Amino acid sequence: MNQIRISVLLAVLCLLASKIIQAQDYKQNAICVDGSSTLCSTLPVDLPDLKVRLGYNPDTNVAEPGDYVAQINFDYFAWQMFVALNWPADSQGQPSTTSTITSDTTSPRVWEYYKSVSDVYGGNDAPAKCDRGSNRLLVTKTSKISTNSFIEPFTSWPLIDSAGNFVVYDIRLNEVEANYILGGNSKGIDLSTKSGQEKFDQAWDFPTGQAPDKPGAMEIKTAWRVFPQGADSSGFFTLPGMIEVDASNSASGESLCLDVTLGLVGMHIMQKISNPEKFSDYWVWATFEHKFNAPYAEGTTPSQVNDQATASGIEPLSSCPRPKISSRSWSFFNSDCTAPDICKPNLPPAKPKGNYLWQATAPFAKLYLIDNAYGTQVTRCWAIYETALTVTKQFQTAMGTSLWTNYQLVGAQWAQNGSEGAPSIVPFSAPYYLTNTTLETYLQINEIGLKPHLGPAPGSCIACHNMATDTAKNPSDFSFLSGYAK
Ligand code: HEC
Repeated sequence: MNQIRISVLLAVLCLLASKIIQAQDYKQNAICVDGSSTLCSTLPVDLPDLKVRLGYNPDTNVAEPGDYVAQINFDYFAWQMFVALNWPADSQGQPSTTSTITSDTTSPRVWEYYKSVSDVYGGNDAPAKCDRGSNRLLVTKTSKISTNSFIEPFTSWPLIDSAGNFVVYDIRLNEVEANYILGGNSKGIDLSTKSGQEKFDQAWDFPTGQAPDKPGAMEIKTAWRVFPQGADSSGFFTLPGMIEVDASNSASGESLCLDVTLGLVGMHIMQKISNPEKFSDYWVWATFEHKFNAPYAEGTTPSQVNDQATASGIEPLSSCPRPKISSRSWSFFNSDCTAPDICKPNLPPAKPKGNYLWQATAPFAKLYLIDNAYGTQVTRCWAIYETALTVTKQFQTAMGTSLWTNYQLVGAQWAQNGSEGAPSIVPFSAPYYLTNTTLETYLQINEIGLKPHLGPAPGSCIACHNMATDTAKNPSDFSFLSGYAK
């Protein structure tokens, strides 16, 4: 009897072990997508041959991890995309074959050659204050209706750093997505205009990546600290930048062109993949940050990932308290700011009557500092989950002493479209919440009363982007860029 029990137990253990090994042995779980352990410029485009029987089942406490755990596959995929996009480019925008991401940290990167929103949807009609022919990264209002470069998505608030300067944002899309929008779709219609979107009148469906080398649609959003001339920006990946502040955003009422150094603090990357097929409708969402952006909130835990699936206990902390001890300096937190109400974490700067106004000289956000001294006080509401930390560590080791070791994966999000596991909440994403402290600072928690499983989601890439529609109210395949059509 006992023998039978033991052998059954052994068989179960072997089955479990083989499943776990299967997930870990996946060839693409490596520093380079080809399975090698050297940093490479190859963009991963899909997760072929990845056997995942089920995705994230929110209603089940998982007994057999091998069936469900696929998180680490997406974590590697995320890091491989980050390295390929931040690889130095040759003059054609192709990844350099003579230098590497760590040996050359000053040349333009591969993503800088991707299309900007105005390349595809048309530009700003306002008169140019900055030199459009310059090779500095130009941060400007992308269209008349939006100030997306200065304001966090879905909110009307900017983020202010510890030196009193606004954070600015840049958006890119790849050739595959641009082609689809500009007519390479099932009806051959140009979707960059409102009339085109009306005529198209169906849900958008961007191409998915095909291994080994056909990328799917991609969108990238980066967040930058603004360093005035002469300020110390060491430890950041930097670019020479120009910020065009139009009259309506300028304290003096005069439009400005500011010569600055931009320091990378956040990066979102999304790509649509083909495999595993049940995840292909929902893209892969990766988000990275500089490791000294903001400390963990006191008592923070990881948002649920798929190996801890249970439908209960998914609510975020109702606040994300300041850490009791914080000994270092952060880009978006200052331990001297202690006044109970105004230094509350993740509180947006007081809203002025009109736009937030820029000074002509630093600190550019002088009018909005807490106690005339501090920028936005940010804490990270969700701890970074274990496999993201593990994979980040491997890439950091591969990067030696490069400045790129200052960047970390905050998480990679994905969702299933299956009826298997029948999530009552579709799409149900893993991790359940995922945000970037420099891009969704104020959306990390439920303060604004939106609860993902009850309605629109503040704190989840997929749940929020799932609401994106074009002018004819058809879903625009998770892309909010459709709203730039004129
Ligand atoms: C609460 C809603 C919300 C959440 C959460 C959110 N986003 Fe967005 N995101 C937006 C909006 C709105 C825009 C458009 C901003 C603009 O163009 O001004 C946007 C823009 C983007 C863009 C630029 C391309 C586009 O579609 O507009 C990328 C890339 C992106 N988000 C990725 C992410 C990732 C990755 C996450 C999760 C880590 C995330 N987003 C979380 C609302 C959200």
